[in-house]
Amino acid sequence: MPDATSIESIMREQRQFPPPEGFVNHAHVRSLDQYRELHARSLADPDAFWAEIASGFHFFKKWDRVVEWNLPFAKWFVGGTTNVCFNCVDLQIQRGRGDHTALLWEGEPVDENGQPREIRRITYKQLLSDVSRFANALKQLGVKKGDRVTLYMPMVPELVVAMLACARIGAPHSVIFGGFSAPAIVDRVNDADSNVIITADGGFRRGQIVPLKAAVDEAATLTDRIKKVVVLKRCCNDVTMTPGRDVWFHDIVANASDQCPAEPLDSEHMLFLLYTSGSTGKPKGILHTTAGYMIYTAYTAKQVFDLKPDDIYWCTADIGWVTGHSYVVYGILQNGVTCVMYEGAPNFPAWDRFWATIARHKVTKFYTAPTAIRAFMKQGVEWPAKHDLTSLKLLGSVGEPINPEAWMWYHEYIGMGGCPIVDTWWQTETGGMLISPLPGATPTKPGSATLPLPGIDAAIVDKSGNVQPADGGGYLCIRKPWPGMLRGIYGDEERFRKQYWSEIPGAYFTGDGARRDADGYFWIMGRVDDVIKVSGHRLGTAEIESALVSHPAVAESAVVGFPDDLTGEAIAAFVTVKSGIPANDELKTQLLQHVVHAVGSIARPKSIRFTEALPKTRSGKIMRRLLRELATKGRVDGDTTTLEDFSSIARLREEEA
Ligand code: WT7
Repeated sequence: MPDATSIESIMREQRQFPPPEGFVNHAHVRSLDQYRELHARSLADPDAFWAEIASGFHFFKKWDRVVEWNLPFAKWFVGGTTNVCFNCVDLQIQRGRGDHTALLWEGEPVDENGQPREIRRITYKQLLSDVSRFANALKQLGVKKGDRVTLYMPMVPELVVAMLACARIGAPHSVIFGGFSAPAIVDRVNDADSNVIITADGGFRRGQIVPLKAAVDEAATLTDRIKKVVVLKRCCNDVTMTPGRDVWFHDIVANASDQCPAEPLDSEHMLFLLYTSGSTGKPKGILHTTAGYMIYTAYTAKQVFDLKPDDIYWCTADIGWVTGHSYVVYGILQNGVTCVMYEGAPNFPAWDRFWATIARHKVTKFYTAPTAIRAFMKQGVEWPAKHDLTSLKLLGSVGEPINPEAWMWYHEYIGMGGCPIVDTWWQTETGGMLISPLPGATPTKPGSATLPLPGIDAAIVDKSGNVQPADGGGYLCIRKPWPGMLRGIYGDEERFRKQYWSEIPGAYFTGDGARRDADGYFWIMGRVDDVIKVSGHRLGTAEIESALVSHPAVAESAVVGFPDDLTGEAIAAFVTVKSGIPANDELKTQLLQHVVHAVGSIARPKSIRFTEALPKTRSGKIMRRLLRELATKGRVDGDTTTLEDFSSIARLREEEA
């Protein structure tokens, strides 16, 4: 971990936007004072605060204690039993929302007029029936409470159905992003010891078919853990079905009953694992449990998106990432609103797909990522200008810092100057948003995630945990437990303690550097570890490095992130080749293909440089900091005193020139 004093923020954005007047009058929280009162109360007596919120949820058996906190282990709503699927679906029907549309889905393919070929509307009642049938089908396959089920699917309603069905019977799911390739599936299936995979023949992406089933077949040649594969027919591309192992989704639900009561589950029962990258090669299975995650995602969704019964809400994230788990599925359905879901790419068939979709369905709340906004900016304002975006009431951003320029563009051309923007800071580990404006209460500043949400005790500290003065940079940490927090890294308590609970005494270490200004606003500066954020997706350097090294020509490699206008960060790979092997463009092309095959296209390096040696410390650690400087500025000015062999950097510079 670098020294806190080395984190220096250069951003001094001055603009401020009060919550739009028309928005304030109807908002759940209507003034900064009201927010401050709520926040102060939540920290003064967290038990009372969370108990009151929890009273709005369905429990089969009420909990005895709000929280048991034994750093780093938290238990929330102790002694209670509940079911997240029940709260997402059955409870909404009990409240009279049964005929309301829960999912409003658009497939990617379009007809000759550019209109979507498929739009599906699924009511809460229909969702209950679909989920119950699939839950029964899973039981028929032998899936039992506690069994981990892997989901590797396109963005289709059946993915939501599968997640909810797992939650209903208490089988934790592990969703793997459809953009990952076979080896990534193997790592995750092995780590989770998961025997059942639910997938599809393929998924549509930018007019092409992503062959998901073929990737699962390849994975199954690399691990013997995969015993059952459920295949959804989506694209009707050719697949090979292995008898005894593979079954069709439509076949197993055909005769399944639509009656499947939700299983009462302990508040701390595992709800899901979601694998995410850290600074070592092995992806971490972030573990979330039932009641705390359920309440935290529903509460934050309601407050931050200011959800009302008639909202048509759209989050563009893929469910393969935590944003989709929390704010496409669990946090949203619990609010009984309509959730728009889109299968494909933002630029298919053209760069106005998002804006056309917003106009078509009269979307009121829209949540996307800075990398998407920057891509749209580049294409020009004529694309959104073609569509009626007046249904929009609120805009959200997530995944990486949003640069003020992109914030302003979003504000002016999508929000027409009248929508509050919620820049929401959080992580896979936090389960839900921790720092974000409340849209009717918090004046926003472009580029700042603003203030901690109720219940969240965020601080900027140095290595010893000392709070930094206003405008001083430091480490972002959280000093009190919150219901949505991760409960562990699956099967690795040691790593859990080390990664999150050992860096800052007594607090959760986020891994982000940040600054807090004189108004108490948080400005996130990005990761302080080796994690790279490409298009808002978190990638570990080690995973990409080991993919490179697994190529027979490569001796050693180091991978770093460097700033990129579009993707936030891009990947630069430094590679040394084995002796006698020509380091040429042909090898570069091969290596790019190799990484895409091993990790997925998301990990494709933007540049590959061959070098004779990598800069290392005397203890043999690669000095990525120097490589980052080189990739960013084309030179190295930083401290090189711990470098073992300075000539490696000198040579890299020569090779650069
Ligand atoms: C990391 C977590 C949050 C769900 C999607 C990503 C960065 C996230 C923001 C934001 C600045 C942000 C942080 C964080 N990040 N949101 N609004 N402003 N940075 O989840 O893959 O677990 O990544 O994303 O660096 O630590 P994730």
